[in-house]
Amino acid sequence: MVNGPDHAPQGPQGAAPSRPRATETRITHIVFPGTTNHHGTLFGGEALSMMDSAAFIAATRYCRRKVVTRHLDAMEFSRPIPQGSLVELIARVVKTGRSSMTVLVELFTEDMYSEKRELGCSGTFVLVALGADGQPTPVPALEAGPT
Ligand SMILES: CC(C)(COP(=O)(O)OP(=O)(O)OC[C@H]1O[C@@H](n2cnc3c(N)ncnc32)[C@H](O)[C@@H]1OP(=O)(O)O)[C@@H](O)C(=O)NCCC(=O)NCCS
Repeated sequence: MVNGPDHAPQGPQGAAPSRPRATETRITHIVFPGTTNHHGTLFGGEALSMMDSAAFIAATRYCRRKVVTRHLDAMEFSRPIPQGSLVELIARVVKTGRSSMTVLVELFTEDMYSEKRELGCSGTFVLVALGADGQPTPVPALEAGPT
């Protein structure tokens, strides 16, 4: 039997199966006309919104607490993303502090009718977990993965 996010071990009878803490989230979209600029390519603000959502979901699934985006940097818009493309966002928790989680988000663009796939944009988001008082609260430390 394989154990992993998609092959979770069974929990006690009647209980939901337990599974490892998720560090990665993948989301796929189509670039529809309402999300493009006047050049017919994905508007940068839309790309940022998708990436922030992916980072938010990844951080929330990781810590299962209320989170907010505190900081983002290293944003790269590497190539234009034409209307009608598929885009796949891969958001990965790569670092944790006391209350913060650093999430690397990559947005890949994929041709609908071929296997062509390229990195379109990437960025690093820092999200902070908040307690009931609205103040930063600790998150689980990221376990070292296989080298
Ligand atoms: C999130 C918030 C409560 C944190 O308050 P704060 O006073 O900055 O808290 P701290 O200084 O204790 O920082 C909290 C964590 O963020 C990290 N952090 C703060 N500023 C940072 C920056 N510029 N870059 C990277 N990390 C940063 C700190 O290092 C700390 O991490 P750690 O606990 O892992 O060591 C407050 O900044 C806030 O409400 N911001 C608005 C969030 C928001 O509305 N986002 C948009 C919508 S989701």
